[in-house]
Parts: sequence; C-alpha cells; structure tokens
Amino acid sequence: MGGLIGLRGVDRGHLDDLLDRGEVYAKQVASREPPSAELDGRIVATAFFEPSTRTRLSFEVAATHVGARVMTFTPETSSTAKGESLKDTMLTLAAIGADVLVVRHGARGVPALAEHWTGLPVVNAGDGRGEHPTQALADALTLRQHFGSVSGLRMGIVGDVRNSRVARSLLWSLPTLGVEIVLVGPSPLLPEANPWDAEVSTELDPVLPGLDVVYMLRMQLERGAAAGLPGLTGYPARYGLDDERMERLAADAVVMHPGPMNRGVELGQRAADGPRSLILDQVRNGVPMRMAVLADCMGHE
Ligand code: CP
Repeated sequence: MGGLIGLRGVDRGHLDDLLDRGEVYAKQVASREPPSAELDGRIVATAFFEPSTRTRLSFEVAATHVGARVMTFTPETSSTAKGESLKDTMLTLAAIGADVLVVRHGARGVPALAEHWTGLPVVNAGDGRGEHPTQALADALTLRQHFGSVSGLRMGIVGDVRNSRVARSLLWSLPTLGVEIVLVGPSPLLPEANPWDAEVSTELDPVLPGLDVVYMLRMQLERGAAAGLPGLTGYPARYGLDDERMERLAADAVVMHPGPMNRGVELGQRAADGPRSLILDQVRNGVPMRMAVLADCMGHE
C-alpha cells in the first residue's frame, strides 16, 4: 500500500492502469451503479489547509463510492486554531482511525511529511507550488475520453505556470503518455527551471493555431503571481482566451482549465461555456479518478 504524492517518476504502465481503472469507475458512476466495496469499512480523512471546492468534495464523494467512510478535518474549526502542530494533527487523525489521508497544504512537501509521520498512505491534494497529481489524472482521463487516446496531442499550458502545481503534475505525466507540451506566458510567470525540456513561448498568438488542447491556468495572486508583472491590465489582451482568439483555434481543439476560473482574465465566456470546453468534464472525472487513486492506495487490483 502506498499513497500518491506526485506523478514525477510514475511509469507509463502505472499511469495507464490508473486511467483504465478511472474509465471503468466513470462508467459505473454515470450509470448510477451502487457503490463498490473496495474500501469497505475503511476511513478516508480529508485535511485541507487551503480552500477547495472540487478536490475536497470529489474526494469525499469518491470515498463513499468505493465503500469508505469520510472523516473531514477543517483547520478553522479544529485544534489547529488553538496552536496544535501539523505533526500532532496528522498523528491524531491516524489515531482516530484514518486508513488514508488526503492532504492539501500551502507548503510544498507537507503530504510527504504526513506519510512519513503517520506511515499511512497519503494522497497529495495540492501542496504549494509542488504537485496536484489527481487533477492531472482527471485531466488525462478527460482527454482520453474525448480524443480516444492522448498520444500525439499538442497541449499549450497558458498563464501562471510558475505557481501552478497542476502544471507540474501535467508536465510530469502527460509527456510519458505521448503528449507534447508547450508552456506559454509572460517571463515572470514561466518556471525558473525546465527539467521537462518543454517548449516555451512568451507569446500565445503564434502558438494557438497549432494546439489540440488549450489548457488555461488561473493567475495565483495568493502566491504572488502579480510580482514582476508590470500590471495585470494588459494580461487578458495578450494571454486571455477571449472570443476573438477562440476563432483562431484548430478545428478540433478543446479548452481546459482546472478551476476555479477568473472569468474575463484568463478566459472569456465562449472559452469557458462553449462546446469546445471540457472544463465541467474535468470536474466530473475528478470523482472516478479519485476512486481509482484511493483503491490503488489500498492495494486493490
Ligand atoms: N482544481 C482544484 O484544485 O480546484 P479546488 O481548489 O476547488 O479544489
């Protein structure tokens, strides 16, 4: 049994297994079949130290769909507010009976620390600028469903790449599955290092017509994204996927975004709500993909 801290180093076989399992669960969820029993009697604890809508709720729904019970820890209403340390908090969740921990934290490395402290499988639900592996897996499942296969697709990841843990998990996984990635954004929002050897562009317009997938990222002002930019007012004009840019997409190209969206900043209404948008499919696939990850953590084939 082991958790999922990140997708760096995860091989093609394991990614394919997780996605195959996610696809089976997606059909099961869509047909409203009764819950599976893979985690029957187990307790999944969610501990989110940063805000979340889709990740926390979809983990909680996913846990119940595989037969587990959910223990929800919220720092604001817990003894964290009285100064209890992170380590004591994690050990307490384990002592109460958690079998799996799902952890989101603003500091990179906390989910790995939680696994080290407790010896429990931990799923990283987003750690600072580190990784967000289940988001990338849900995205890969969404692309597989839409295109049949992800191999050979060209994806542009556009915007605040530097601060994006989703971008990192996409970069550590999609090329393994045969996706070509180009990073697009103003220099201060591009990563300082490029261990993926991804193509990089500071301009969106020349890249746009050659993309199969336009993956827009939220400007993470809470992580200092505005620092180094001359001002945010010019950003949508240069990098926003507005209605006019939508006209210049390739015939079969699709739009993705991990959410939450800043409408009017990184994308406009046609991009967000039009027929090319896979954004709600990404959210929907968060449930079966997280079912697959939880089952994998507990060693179910
Ligand atoms: N994509 C994502 O992580 O969304 P939430 O912050 O709502 O969980």
